[in-house]
Amino acid sequence: PDQWQDWRDEVRRLAREKDVVILAHNYQAPEIQDVADHVGDSLALSRLAAASEASTILFAGVHFMAETAKILAPEKTVLVPDANAGCSLADTIDADQLRAWKAEHPGAVVVSYVNTSAEVKGETDICCTSSNAVEVVESIPADREILFLPDQFLGAHVQRVTGRQNMRIWMGECHVHAGISPTDLRASVEAAPDAELLVHPECGCATSALWMVSDGQLPTERVHILSTGGMLDEARRTTAKRVLVATEIGMLHQLRQANPTTSFEPVNSRASCPYMKMSTPEKLLRALREGRDEVTVDPQVAARARAAVEAMVAIGT
Ligand code: 13P
Ligand code: SF4
Repeated sequence: PDQWQDWRDEVRRLAREKDVVILAHNYQAPEIQDVADHVGDSLALSRLAAASEASTILFAGVHFMAETAKILAPEKTVLVPDANAGCSLADTIDADQLRAWKAEHPGAVVVSYVNTSAEVKGETDICCTSSNAVEVVESIPADREILFLPDQFLGAHVQRVTGRQNMRIWMGECHVHAGISPTDLRASVEAAPDAELLVHPECGCATSALWMVSDGQLPTERVHILSTGGMLDEARRTTAKRVLVATEIGMLHQLRQANPTTSFEPVNSRASCPYMKMSTPEKLLRALREGRDEVTVDPQVAARARAAVEAMVAIGT
């Protein structure tokens, strides 16, 4: 038992009584991860939302994640601890901006990262997450131009891996991941030259990690560019003593639980997402007690977005 035990008991009791499944993203606070039915990355949680038999989904994450769950499971009630939990990356493009971009490139296939509003998804051909962005782009015929949005660092990573030339990238960024800089990365590597490196593709330092490999400063087998779910798989596999982690720091809780014999250290210990941390234990309990905040998506917007989101859920492992 710890200071959260009574709170956990009450959360679990209410979830059972009210037929609620609690999904938590890997960036949530440790106590929220520990009480959830499932913890995972954006793709895994979308799949769980689509497959769940509970009548209510309580999504401990940010607003676009709950909207995605609602698009996939329109008959269910979808709750979030705080509906004001937005996303700086999703805010870099709205549906009007996307319509204008599409008008400049008629016939292009629109690939949107799941970190977008439901309205943007409604203007999208296929969504992706960081786990399956490469597979999604590879599923599009080579002669079709692609508009990839909104993350420039993920876009650059996908372009590097696929070698795709006819791909235009929206210049958005997540302020948390963009803030994990090449300088932070170099300082961490200098302090721990033998450590393995896990880098989320949204990071501002993802390209420099690969330059350090091509310059011979880091062996290629020690550098992994991965989604949060991919990081967890690598944490279970690794035999390294030290692993440097470039992503939001909530991730460290899952990594340390998955492998207690390895030391996981953040590349930037200030990389905390203020939106993810708007889910507090008090608000999670309030969501269960009072049924708020409920997330809804206009049914017409949801109908336009559904095929793109369902295709995302079907692609990749
Ligand atoms: P993944 O969990 O899909 O890697 O996404 C990271 C993220 O920034 C979600 O907000
Ligand atoms: Fe958005 Fe970045 Fe926070 Fe993820 S970490 S929710 S991309 S602001």
